Amino acid sequence: MYEFARGPLVWIAFAVFFAGAAYKLWRMFALAKKERVVFPYMDLKFAARSVAHWLVPFGSRNMRLHPGMTLATFAFHICLVVTPIFLMAHNVLWHESWGVRLPALPEHVADAMTFVVILVALFLVARRMFTPAVAYVTYWSDWVVLLIAVGPFITGFLATQGWFPYDAMLLLHIFSGALWLAAIPFTRLSHMLYFVFTRAYMGCEFGGVRNAKDW
Ligand code: HEM
Ligand code: HEM
Repeated sequence: MYEFARGPLVWIAFAVFFAGAAYKLWRMFALAKKERVVFPYMDLKFAARSVAHWLVPFGSRNMRLHPGMTLATFAFHICLVVTPIFLMAHNVLWHESWGVRLPALPEHVADAMTFVVILVALFLVARRMFTPAVAYVTYWSDWVVLLIAVGPFITGFLATQGWFPYDAMLLLHIFSGALWLAAIPFTRLSHMLYFVFTRAYMGCEFGGVRNAKDW
């Protein structure tokens, strides 16, 4: 089972991630081309200005109004993306499989970043349960997406700590990691792919048509 998980499963997960992402982006461009109000209004300056404001912590008014949420989501996303790429254990695997060598995070830093992802996920769960405006628009799919996003961090952390049988935990970790990759193009996690384009569009509509800021 481990041989399958470490070999073909990882290949399948990466293939689904890249092919799915390419397909979804191609579909988005095809749809946007049909709309007469998308490409003709695109302007690099308005687009870049909007993306930059929303990528910088506290760069938008909404972020300044909700400082707790802003700190939580930025910490969450930075740790979510940086940890798996620069994790020592993954680095060994990158090297074994593809001969790539990346800088590696010290183990205690990786542990702490993993912990940040799990803590913020708990905060997001509480927010979905107890903030009435958020609870009202929460569907079962939001719980599933959150679980998929945080799954590899919980299983990776548990595997590293050695509290449970290692082989079983590692297998669970690899399956949850493969699911994480494969789910990105096909669930709401696809915001990772669309973020720049939706922001660019909003930036152009607000900047070029409404003459207003969108941050
Ligand atoms: C799909 C293939 C994957 C494989 C083969 C794999 C393999 C591993 C291995 C061998 C470990 C080390 C366990 C130990 O300390 O002994 C680990 C830890 C970890 N992995 Fe993965 N992983 C995969 C995917 C992912 C993904 C997609 C993520 C996150 C999005 C992830 C996040 C983590 C984290 C956060 C840790 C533990 C960090 C810590 O607490 O120090 N892994 N992984
Ligand atoms: C790297 C590019 C990414 C960008 C720019 C991005 C941006 C965002 C933004 C703007 C939000 C809304 C936060 C808010 O309400 O203030 C969000 C939420 C979220 N993102 Fe991302 N994201 C990215 C990647 C990812 C990835 C790779 C994952 C996991 C696979 C992920 C998981 C989530 C989750 C679970 C939430 C919502 C939490 C909730 O409210 O339940 N994001 N993201």
